[in-house]
Amino acid sequence: MKVDGKAYRTIWPDSDGESVIILDQTLFPHRFETARLTVVEDAARAISDMLVRGAPLIGATAAYGMVLAMRSDASDAALRAAYEQLHATRPTAINLRWALDRMEAVLRPLPHGDRAGAAWEEAARVCDEDVGINSAIGDNGLAIIRDVAAKKGGSPVNILTHCNAGWLATVDWGTATAPIYKAHDAGIPVHVWVDETRPRNQGAFLTAWELGRHGVPHTVIVDNAGGHLMQHGQVDMVITGTDRTTARGDVCNKIGTYLKALAAQDNGVPFYVALPTPTIDHRVSDGVAEIPIEDRSGDEVRFISGRSGGGITQVDLLPPASAVANPSFDVTPARLVTALITEKGVIPATEGAIAGLR
Ligand code: MRU
Repeated sequence: MKVDGKAYRTIWPDSDGESVIILDQTLFPHRFETARLTVVEDAARAISDMLVRGAPLIGATAAYGMVLAMRSDASDAALRAAYEQLHATRPTAINLRWALDRMEAVLRPLPHGDRAGAAWEEAARVCDEDVGINSAIGDNGLAIIRDVAAKKGGSPVNILTHCNAGWLATVDWGTATAPIYKAHDAGIPVHVWVDETRPRNQGAFLTAWELGRHGVPHTVIVDNAGGHLMQHGQVDMVITGTDRTTARGDVCNKIGTYLKALAAQDNGVPFYVALPTPTIDHRVSDGVAEIPIEDRSGDEVRFISGRSGGGITQVDLLPPASAVANPSFDVTPARLVTALITEKGVIPATEGAIAGLR
């Protein structure tokens, strides 16, 4: 997508042939800055400290992390160690394991001297494929938005989204936002309700920023507002992303997604989940029982940062002695999902339909 007229992806190899550049998402929306990854530890830290985040981008960064590891030591032991180090960064998004498995499968059979070169090529393929997949998700989701728009006689289609499943969460286009960008670009009037998404505010900080840069009308709301808006007919559809989708269609996404799905069902609002097929974990069926939910630091709940006097300031929100919990993802059961928007088509969230994608 474009930022101030210049096309960007969220991750790319630097022209020095030695390092990888990312957008430092911890600084958004206040500053637009890049960061350089030169060793595998940089890639691991970028994922765990959330300079990059979002399931597909976590996978792409891990793929480049393997490249950086192979540049300094291409032995079997280094390959395994890099895999383990990167895999330990975040537990929920399955794209991480998918990307690492893919890199390892390509690199392990090769002579050590060929591994770094092959790693660069494979990581670039992971990224290019992600862009193509998300564009196809956009085309498939566009058809749904077009149908809704046809019934609205020219008034905007109101779409609610949670967290950031936008281009910043992928290599480009986004998953949940791809149909929105395609609809906007096709001249269909859309308006997006952007859930703030406490505690890290990916909606307010990232989704609002990227929709704004692309000129898509949007309104930031607190996480508790969605149900009210649905009751009053102000939401035509929900589209979210997912960090892991099970074989039977349960979807695990940023904490709070489940509550939106419940409110959507109670109000007859269609609840769509947009996903690249590498986000499906065919080994897992019952998402609530089987998906590991990341527990992040309570400091993310206690503190909030924002602009103040030309700088960025962090403030403490809570009584000092209060305990804080920060489960970061929840699972929305398949029965609450209207359909899955994938690059291979729009399918029901059922075991049979998901198996048919393989
Ligand atoms: O903790 P994050 O910011 O990595 O969580 C991101 C999400 O929950 C996204 O909705 C999900 O990864 C889908 S991204 C296309």
